[in-house]
Amino acid sequence: MSNPVREKIEKLREEINEHNYRYYVLNDPIISDFEFDQKLKELQELENQHPEFITPDSPTQRVGSDLTKNFPSVEHKFPMLSLSNVYNEDELKDFDRRVREGLTPGSEINYVTELKIDGVSISIHYKNSFFDSAVTRGDGFVGEEITPNVKTIRSVPLRAKTEKFPELADAEFEVRGEIFMNLETFKKINEEQENKGEKIFANPRNLTAGTIKLQDPKIVASRNLDIFVYYLLSENVEFDSQSQNLEILQQLGFKINPNYRVCRDINEVVEYCNYWETKREELPYEIDGVVVKVDSVEQQKILGSIAKSPRWATAFKFKAKQATTKLKKIIWQVGRTGAVTPVADLEPVFLAGSTISRATLHNIEEIERKDIREGDTVVIEKGGDVIPKVVKVVLEKRPPESRPAQIPDRCPVCNSALFKPEEEVAIYCANQICPAQVKGSIIHFASRGAMDIDGLGESLINLFVDLGYLKSYADIYYLNEKREELISLERLGEKSVDNLLAAIEESKERPFAKKLFALGIRYVGSGAARLLAENFDSLDDLMKADSEKLEDIPDIGPRISESVKSFFSNEENLAVIKRLKDAGLKFEREKTETSDLFKGKSFVLTGTLPTMTREEAGELILKNGGTVSSSVSKKTGFVLAGEKAGSKLAKAEKLGVKIITEKEFLEMLKNGVVS
Ligand code: IVH
Repeated sequence: MSNPVREKIEKLREEINEHNYRYYVLNDPIISDFEFDQKLKELQELENQHPEFITPDSPTQRVGSDLTKNFPSVEHKFPMLSLSNVYNEDELKDFDRRVREGLTPGSEINYVTELKIDGVSISIHYKNSFFDSAVTRGDGFVGEEITPNVKTIRSVPLRAKTEKFPELADAEFEVRGEIFMNLETFKKINEEQENKGEKIFANPRNLTAGTIKLQDPKIVASRNLDIFVYYLLSENVEFDSQSQNLEILQQLGFKINPNYRVCRDINEVVEYCNYWETKREELPYEIDGVVVKVDSVEQQKILGSIAKSPRWATAFKFKAKQATTKLKKIIWQVGRTGAVTPVADLEPVFLAGSTISRATLHNIEEIERKDIREGDTVVIEKGGDVIPKVVKVVLEKRPPESRPAQIPDRCPVCNSALFKPEEEVAIYCANQICPAQVKGSIIHFASRGAMDIDGLGESLINLFVDLGYLKSYADIYYLNEKREELISLERLGEKSVDNLLAAIEESKERPFAKKLFALGIRYVGSGAARLLAENFDSLDDLMKADSEKLEDIPDIGPRISESVKSFFSNEENLAVIKRLKDAGLKFEREKTETSDLFKGKSFVLTGTLPTMTREEAGELILKNGGTVSSSVSKKTGFVLAGEKAGSKLAKAEKLGVKIITEKEFLEMLKNGVVS
């Protein structure tokens, strides 16, 4: 039956999806951003009025409105293999030789060379042409389903253009590719981070990997991720070649990298690899090599796979970006755990997009093994981290007066004796009240991932420790007693002090897991803290637990359990915890909230809700005093209707029962009012 609203919605949806495709995949928009936004707004409004017409490929569905709790594990139907690596021309030729040996002598072999995008691999599933789900590589066999996050990537079609491929249209298929972030977006995000005084991300790949695992798809959407796909897997279609596979992906509306090439022999492959090794800087995204694949699918099948990688493909890895500079001084830094680590203070040098003046030297063993000395000329390299490392010393340039590096025996900050635990390579400052350790532990405590105290950043903490206001992180909660003194400090005014004190007060409400993480127990990162918080009702319970009980928790091993036990057997730590408790911090697992908001109201649930299951919605209703019934009558308070709601919806309309969407339902819960 025709319905003018539905038709309007369908038309808008198709139009917007096409404009999206032109913009994000073809890079060839034909309308202005403003016109596009108007259309999207119009669709959004129509859908709000008629949620029954929302379909999964509607562009409004790219950003889920709710937070995902955690990501379900999903087994890959076909494992996601990795590639063997080659590093130079000789190794490429060895690869070619192995391929030839695996095939009938004299076979003609074509190779497809593709850029190796430095991002995160993903498998996207389509059912009946619709985007269905997206799963990370994981360990190659089981990955995490991160569907709502991948949906936010505008170059991923929510509906594949299968019109020309009837065998794919009504089937299931999988598309594999690489999610990445272009350099411009990466730079912009880091600039914003810097302005906010927050963490700088190491490289686009790390930021991409972090982003796709975020719990809030809205933030993911704001990060502007992109994708190149390189493989279509389907039980319904046989491909002749990898190059044909790429072409079909393109015709289906996917974004493939245009720089691939079909090479007739290994010499052409070598040429392609060398070309891109020198031209990589000109691309607006990062690549770390070239993937070389035997083009013919028949030959791929003959060659097969060994262990986790195919014999018919390999990755030519580019050399890490290096630079040469002078090591001015070895600085010994004291971290929050007391570990004293060497850092190279360098003459500034430009390397792969940024100016470098510090490089990590890891530990004493590393310095001794490479015989790194002050005054040396060194080769530095950018690996996966923000901080580059010193690869080697240019011995020819060593000044004659050079002496081996001096290993400190006293803490460079508090001058107390250092010690080295037998099983570790690190040296430690044993002084628990060493200002460097105190500062480090307070910075950690107040940081974003822990107590998240707005305004209490590194420089203020350093100042407060130096002035004696903070001797441990517990003192933060007693700063209000020093309000007048703080106001008189040059850097702070009345308003900023009051804002800071309010932020400190507010932080007392952080969840148990964050508080546990904030304590800074060695080896208890945010993940382990969450596990502990889920398994113990309170800090007191955790403190009483023996190693056995701790290690019963999956993923908690002896290293963490010993560290936890040792933390809570230290008198000073116990005193700090008492001070935190005295200040009003509760270390208890949150109780799930209940209310009688829906008392006396019965709900009927029908259709598919956009972000939650009916069971989840039902639980929320029960928790808030309401009841759930399976059939609609005059007594029904609300019908909570999602997509594809059928007869129950019709009956509610007939009886005049109030029909609400998930959004309205969540709003009632949020506002605590039933309307
Ligand atoms: S093919 C068996 N093609 O590189 C085929 N991979 O280990 C394996 N990558 O994790 C993948 N660009 O995420 C292929 N054009 C490309 C690629 C590519 C990047 C990544 C992929 C995989 C890793 C290779």
